[in-house]
Amino acid sequence: MKKMKKWLAGIIVLTLSISMLSACGKSAAPEGDKGYTMDNIRDYVVGIDEEMELENGSKKTVTNFDNAATTPALQPVADEVEEELKKYGSIGRGFSPKSDYSTDLYNSTKDKIIDFVGADPETYTVFYVNNTTDGLNKLASALIEKKSDVVLTTRMEHHSNDLPWRENGTVIYAEVDDQGRVMYDEIEKQLKKNKVKYVSVTAASNVTGYVTDVHRVAKLAHKYGAKIIVDGAQIVAHRKFSMLGETEDENIDFFVFSAHKMYSPYGGGAVVGLSEALSGHMPKFYGGGTIYIVGDDWVEYADAPKSYEAGSPNYPGVIGLGKAIDILEEVGFDNIEAHEKALNQRLVDGLLKMDNVIVYGDSEDLSDRVGVISFNFSDCNSHLLAEQLSQQYAIATRRGAFCANPYVWRFYGLTDEQVRNFAECSDVNTPGMIRVSFGIYNTEEEVDYLLKVLPDAIKRAKAINEENFGLAEPLY
Ligand code: ALA
Repeated sequence: MKKMKKWLAGIIVLTLSISMLSACGKSAAPEGDKGYTMDNIRDYVVGIDEEMELENGSKKTVTNFDNAATTPALQPVADEVEEELKKYGSIGRGFSPKSDYSTDLYNSTKDKIIDFVGADPETYTVFYVNNTTDGLNKLASALIEKKSDVVLTTRMEHHSNDLPWRENGTVIYAEVDDQGRVMYDEIEKQLKKNKVKYVSVTAASNVTGYVTDVHRVAKLAHKYGAKIIVDGAQIVAHRKFSMLGETEDENIDFFVFSAHKMYSPYGGGAVVGLSEALSGHMPKFYGGGTIYIVGDDWVEYADAPKSYEAGSPNYPGVIGLGKAIDILEEVGFDNIEAHEKALNQRLVDGLLKMDNVIVYGDSEDLSDRVGVISFNFSDCNSHLLAEQLSQQYAIATRRGAFCANPYVWRFYGLTDEQVRNFAECSDVNTPGMIRVSFGIYNTEEEVDYLLKVLPDAIKRAKAINEENFGLAEPLY
């Protein structure tokens, strides 16, 4: 009897070890019908256990808090891309079973995207892009007809929702408040004062994580005869997003997002927009796929979305994006939101206990923020600190002004003239913030680890400053 128990225990241990092994980013599908959940999703993150060499020669797995920049792949996304490549053929051009299959999947993924963002398939269409920046540039190039066309945006934007409008049209801005939140009455004031053609706003900030009430902005834009474009880069993997508002005037006209911020780093992204509005225009991007027919010296360009998709498309990007949507929906946006809120709170609570800390934005009310927290220590250079976090502890953060320079300078109270004196935005001498941005797989233990090592990292960063730079206060 004793012997048999030992034998049974052996089998149980073996079975447990096998299932634990298969849960290290290797296994493609959850066991049974459990599905992908907040509790098991970490097991499906590609490279989560990969050890990286640090400058001191030691090896560590990376604690990744840089998800607002880009997210790691999920194994089922990678598996889906690999699987579908077996049936890959030219999209929309070939005569072959593979071509037919690929074209169908390419088009049906557009239907999935329309559904994902709650748009009406009768009035909206989708075109694929390389990423959000590409999508916004294409929209700017297509929709802006002359330099005097006015686009209203906010001072909360990252450069991709600012520079394309600056270069193509005339941009005006709605200021942010002291905490860095969008001011809706400023948006209305600007709409009243100017003949605005498009309002382009981010759905969530990549610096503070603030979520904009884009349906409220839509209502304002439409009231004054403008159309609304929403930059969805930082919302799409974090909150359930619908282009449909409660009333028709709250609907979003154009929505742009990237796949690489939603666990599918194969390039790719999409613009969902009103078919009629898109068809009246075309980006300055010409070539194969954009036409109905071409003669010696004349061209009959196609309607949207064809006219927005010059050249052969990025098929792996489309496949990955479709699968990422499935998985995020399966995990559930309510769960994702609750998880991020808990991590935000734990991090901010821990930071606020530390000396000389500055947490940017409203640190008392975190309810309108996705999982993005930016901070500093007034007595420590943020560039040197981020370097120490990376090199000593393999903690990945982002440091600098996060491709959202004007927004970040506002938190320091720097004037435009003062900023002009800085060499470049990520220089050790230029002020910058440290940003932690969460993904669905980050854990409370990882937050605790960061909080635990921060004092030592600060000490090291200060010593390096003293020895090598002698940077004066304020040092961040
Ligand atoms: N906008 C991206 C970021 O915030 C690149 O890191």
